[in-house]
Amino acid sequence: MERLQKIIAQAGIASRRKAEELILQGKVKVNGVVVDQLGFKAKGSDEVEVNGQVIKKEDKVYFVMNKPKNVLSAVVDHSGRDTCVQFIDTKFRIFPVGRLDFDTTGLLILTNDGQFANELMHPRFQIAKTYEVTIDKVLSIEEIKQLEKGIMLEDGMTLPCKVLVNHRNIEKCQMQLDVTIKEGRNHQVKRMMAYFQANVKRLHRKQLGFLTIKDLKPKEYRKLKPFEVVSLRSLANKGVKLK
Ligand code: URA
Repeated sequence: MERLQKIIAQAGIASRRKAEELILQGKVKVNGVVVDQLGFKAKGSDEVEVNGQVIKKEDKVYFVMNKPKNVLSAVVDHSGRDTCVQFIDTKFRIFPVGRLDFDTTGLLILTNDGQFANELMHPRFQIAKTYEVTIDKVLSIEEIKQLEKGIMLEDGMTLPCKVLVNHRNIEKCQMQLDVTIKEGRNHQVKRMMAYFQANVKRLHRKQLGFLTIKDLKPKEYRKLKPFEVVSLRSLANKGVKLK
């Protein structure tokens, strides 16, 4: 159930404020009956008419992309930087679900479905996200254990996470790890590494829940399959636990 003015605005007919005016002027009907009061909520199956024309609800679209480096996770950038949305060929007004830093690469979902985005980003039900991280330090086993258990950042303790060491190069003083976290705080992985005086050289999100982007090169994207959308929704609503 959604407010009438929101449905009208989402269909691109008028702004929410203008939609409210149209309702108050008696120009909106639901299932053939005039609704001239604000606050009315319509079901998905209801037929909404504005000025005698039935409005078509915007279809929902879902994409997953492999975000390249130096691209902003935003719809527009007023300073002219590339944004993730401009790589996707669609007539729908999509936006990224959550954010990856400008220099972070990897898995990013884009949609025009605000409810889906809210479900996926809700702090109570964070889905596991795996980042491949290259740092300029070789962490000790004790430090890795501490990282997994939780560390104190400026905004509080991190939840337990999973860490897997992919490469350790003592000569070059470099390490590559897979870090799986369930939270989505700002710059979280970089801040977790900074806690151990390690700088992140490369950060790539490779997995979100069950979803991977092994089939996508940087800049490439594909539509999510309907079962993937349903499964992501149910993962988010369950709040899957890390083993
Ligand atoms: N953690 C970070 O520090 N940056 C990202 O882009 C994602 C997670």
